[in-house]
Amino acid sequence: MCLVPVVVLLAFLGSSSCTRFQANLNMGGVMGWVRFDSTNQTATVNITGTGTCGSSLNLSLSVFPVMFGHFAQPCLEVNVGASIFSFTIDPFSSNTTVNMSSLFKQRSNLDDLSLTLETCNGTKACTVISGQTTVQTWQARFFSSVAGDIYIRQNVGQTHARVLTNLATIGQVGAMATNVNILTSQSSARDCKALLDSLEPSSLTQLGELKVGTPLTPVKSRLDLTSVSSNTRFALLKLGSSSYKCAEIRTMDRKEVSALVNMRGVKGYFLFRQASPFDVTELRVNLTNLGSRVGPYHIHHFPTPTMRSPPQTTCSNDNVGDHWNPFGIDTKDPTYPSGPGSTHDRYEVGDLSARHGSLKGKAEMDADFTDFNLPLFGQNSIVGRSVVIHQPDGARFLCAYICYPGEVHVARLCSDTLWWYGPVRPTQEQPVV
Ligand SMILES: *[C@@H]1O[C@H](CO)[C@@H](O)[C@H](O)[C@H]1NC(C)=O
Ligand SMILES: *[C@@H]1O[C@H](CO)[C@@H](O)[C@H](O)[C@H]1NC(C)=O
Ligand SMILES: *[C@@H]1O[C@H](CO)[C@@H](O)[C@H](O)[C@H]1NC(C)=O
Ligand SMILES: *[C@@H]1O[C@H](CO)[C@@H](O)[C@H](O)[C@H]1NC(C)=O
Ligand SMILES: *[C@@H]1O[C@H](CO)[C@@H](O)[C@H](O)[C@H]1NC(C)=O
Ligand SMILES: *[C@@H]1O[C@H](CO)[C@@H](O)[C@H](O)[C@H]1NC(C)=O
Ligand SMILES: *[C@@H]1O[C@H](CO)[C@@H](O)[C@H](O)[C@H]1NC(C)=O
Repeated sequence: MCLVPVVVLLAFLGSSSCTRFQANLNMGGVMGWVRFDSTNQTATVNITGTGTCGSSLNLSLSVFPVMFGHFAQPCLEVNVGASIFSFTIDPFSSNTTVNMSSLFKQRSNLDDLSLTLETCNGTKACTVISGQTTVQTWQARFFSSVAGDIYIRQNVGQTHARVLTNLATIGQVGAMATNVNILTSQSSARDCKALLDSLEPSSLTQLGELKVGTPLTPVKSRLDLTSVSSNTRFALLKLGSSSYKCAEIRTMDRKEVSALVNMRGVKGYFLFRQASPFDVTELRVNLTNLGSRVGPYHIHHFPTPTMRSPPQTTCSNDNVGDHWNPFGIDTKDPTYPSGPGSTHDRYEVGDLSARHGSLKGKAEMDADFTDFNLPLFGQNSIVGRSVVIHQPDGARFLCAYICYPGEVHVARLCSDTLWWYGPVRPTQEQPVV
């Protein structure tokens, strides 16, 4: 059961009612998991691919969760924030459970911390630690003098929350890293301007102090709060003694997009779903009538054209471009994986069939995959691009546009969202598996 007595909730800042946390690794050649148990005060490690250079492996916990598919080097401090705890395991010991009482003395809730380790050849692998519950995310965005994102994350049904921020001072020559106070307001004001025009500082709730970086080095920071009201509407940063910057707090919904396939007799869809930038992406491939005619499939750079034309033209390089490859991975490199089995960061973001298996020889396909490198959020997002299915010889066979449910493309609705669970539309409360 995921419940602890109220006394414990009050006693520990950022306390959780969940006692088990899991970190699934799929990066830098490292695969496996680390499970933390706050009742037993232990961590159990089951990972492969770290190499064989010594009998100790350092693992470190950082304040900001990994944003999957956002950065070429996702495990750097600039991307996961400062390290707050580290521990060592012996990867060759028969006992893979280690005593973590000193960690749980500091905090009982590990949700949204990052776990990072370094392999023998210096490659870093990192991932998010999660209590495996449904999480609600809110976002506020600041644009001037202090700029960046604030995410508020709360497990559904619990009061405690974490404020995760990525902030930098902008527009000031020689600005130094600094701190800023964050406050919230439950005002019913129409917008930030209305709120600031008649601001009542005493009505604001002080959350704490956040780190602010410089324009070239934004800083990730975090506050763990015992509660956040669901009526919170505005986030304010206090600059100087009485000057405030304000941003509206908006719900950050899960993203779900699809590519409807209906070309050359093949029917079906690709469905992509990601709960937040801090979660892995789920991919469903459901295709019929492939007739053993196809093989590889990828996400390509551009959307399919809005004018109807034959498949050869629609899916051409002139229209949809080459594979979506924001990190410039070299597929000609002899070490580029020829099929599934490597960690997902080793492939082009768009190379779905190399990561998850080709359609070669198949008449139909109905499969779900979990992907650690297929972002639906941020600048590397696949939303608005296209999926191309190729013939076994590599020639482009058909393509489909990746879009939001309800979006109109080539005079028809992009898709509806009934496919994940059959006839029942998924709700926010449904656990994301
Ligand atoms: C580093 O180690 C990882 C995991 O052991 C391996 O996959 C990768 O190929 C190595 N990289 C280099 C440059 O040797
Ligand atoms: C705590 O440790 C005991 C003994 O190792 C184990 O049997 C039990 O499953 C653990 N509890 C949890 C919640 O994992
Ligand atoms: C570790 O993970 C592998 C692969 O998932 C699994 O086969 C193995 O049983 C696990 N070992 C332990 C001790 O859980
Ligand atoms: C692990 O950390 C310890 C202490 O911080 C350090 O002395 C050691 O060199 C580290 N080992 C590796 C493999 O990084
Ligand atoms: C493994 O080590 C942990 C922590 O030191 C200890 O609690 C546990 O009993 C050990 N398990 C075995 C099977 O030795
Ligand atoms: C874990 O470590 C703490 C402090 O070092 C110690 O008091 C405790 O007995 C240890 N627990 C186990 C199960 O070894
Ligand atoms: C896959 O598509 C087929 C045909 O459209 C449909 O009957 C089937 O229910 C789909 N499978 C899933 C799991 O949605």
